[in-house]
Amino acid sequence: MHVLVTYASRHHATASMAQSIAEILRKPVEGLSGPTVDVLAVDDVDVLDDFDAVVLGSSVYMGRWLKPARRFARENSAALAARPLWLFSSGPIGDPPAPTAEATDVIALAESLGARGSRTFAGRLRTAELGLGERATVRLVRAADGDYRDWDEIRAWAADIARALAAPVDQ
Ligand SMILES: Cc1cc2nc3c(=O)[nH]c(=O)nc-3n(C[C@H](O)[C@H](O)[C@H](O)COP(=O)(O)O)c2cc1C
Repeated sequence: MHVLVTYASRHHATASMAQSIAEILRKPVEGLSGPTVDVLAVDDVDVLDDFDAVVLGSSVYMGRWLKPARRFARENSAALAARPLWLFSSGPIGDPPAPTAEATDVIALAESLGARGSRTFAGRLRTAELGLGERATVRLVRAADGDYRDWDEIRAWAADIARALAAPVDQ
């Protein structure tokens, strides 16, 4: 089995989450050797023909997935809908992380592509890395710098996917 973990990320927080998910997916499950897993930015994916399953993620900005992720989902909608697919979003920041609601376009995307799961994980904010426009937005919503990513939660979600992929097809 060949699995693609693909992502859009502006400041690398989501890219590292994709790497962590891939590490878990590669592990053997119940004695079966793990799948081959490629991790690629959405812009580096050519075709999905070689992949049996896809995990697609993006960070959320202003309530939406990044444009490259939305474009990737649109341009590959038929191939994605034909494969086991999981979506993840990286966004909420602060303690407790906010906003709590999943982005509406992600909910719609998960439905239209028949995704087997869609999860939003808390993200990371480092104001020093941001452009001027982004800094102004962050000031406006008074978001606090920090790395709010919960690696145990991310790895547990990936382990659920690994178990689903290892299960017999009709279960
Ligand atoms: C300008 C700006 C706008 C943001 N808007 C949202 C948002 O609407 N919803 C959300 O959940 N997170 C929002 N975030 C938080 C980011 O999604 C979060 O920091 C994410 O983990 C960044 O991932 P990346 O480094 O992979 O791009 C925003 C961050 C910035 C800097």
